[in-house]
Amino acid sequence: MKLFTNKKKLREEIGKINNISFVPTMGFLHKGHESIIKKSVKGSGKTLVSIFVNPKQFNNRKDLKNYPRNTKNDIKILKKLKIDYLYKPSYADVYKFKTKNKIYLDKFAKELCGEFRKGHFRGVIDVVNRLLEITNPKRILLGNKDFQQLYLIKKHIMKNKIKTKVFPCKTIRDKNFIAYSSRLKKLNPNEKTKLIKIIKVLKKYKKDLITKKQIYNFSKIKKKIISIGAKNVDYIKLIDLKTLKKPKKNKFNLFYALYIGNVRLIDNF
Ligand code: PAF
Repeated sequence: MKLFTNKKKLREEIGKINNISFVPTMGFLHKGHESIIKKSVKGSGKTLVSIFVNPKQFNNRKDLKNYPRNTKNDIKILKKLKIDYLYKPSYADVYKFKTKNKIYLDKFAKELCGEFRKGHFRGVIDVVNRLLEITNPKRILLGNKDFQQLYLIKKHIMKNKIKTKVFPCKTIRDKNFIAYSSRLKKLNPNEKTKLIKIIKVLKKYKKDLITKKQIYNFSKIKKKIISIGAKNVDYIKLIDLKTLKKPKKNKFNLFYALYIGNVRLIDNF
């Protein structure tokens, strides 16, 4: 694995390779990342991973400061997975150049997390666009856990006619159906127990909505989740993945964002 902290050097190395699969991350790698990276390494071509905790996508300074980091362990994991290149840039390397593309924010950016994290998706699209301009990969692999992010990146790529193809990757869960996420590390054992209970309730809720034709009622389910121990619930929404609207049929994903202590967790299933 070759490590680059500078885009000029990275480009000198990969500029002529036309088969790069790119996995952007903010580090603190977990089984979800590992699954995406393994998929990339198994495919044809070279695998490039980036680690960059992007300040522009944090709408809260404290959240940025507290975001978990462990570069030493990340490098160990990436070496074990046999990736080809790691790009771990500074802020200036990413942001001190003029981009060719214009940030395109689809209207879906206003919903779900967009309603609660002002500027978040603009920050995500900005950094991903920059990383794409720097690395010019054939493919970008992204997790379905962050479905809204994945969708918005796809739209930006289409609108700007960027040649990179987007590969969605399935969400990896533990035995309690918890989707792996870097933020989970911040939960203490008591909070983890609460999360397990909450997820059980949400899974049953989704099932009952389908099989018992129960009516979706946000305040009721929110109350229940808070009674189990969530500090707050930003949203619990049912979305038809095809129309991105409230579902008309029984085919939908349940999306949620909630706080346990100060940790904000999102998922969809
Ligand atoms: O999903 C993430 O880790 C980040 O939002 C991404 C795509 C690496 C951009 O900073």
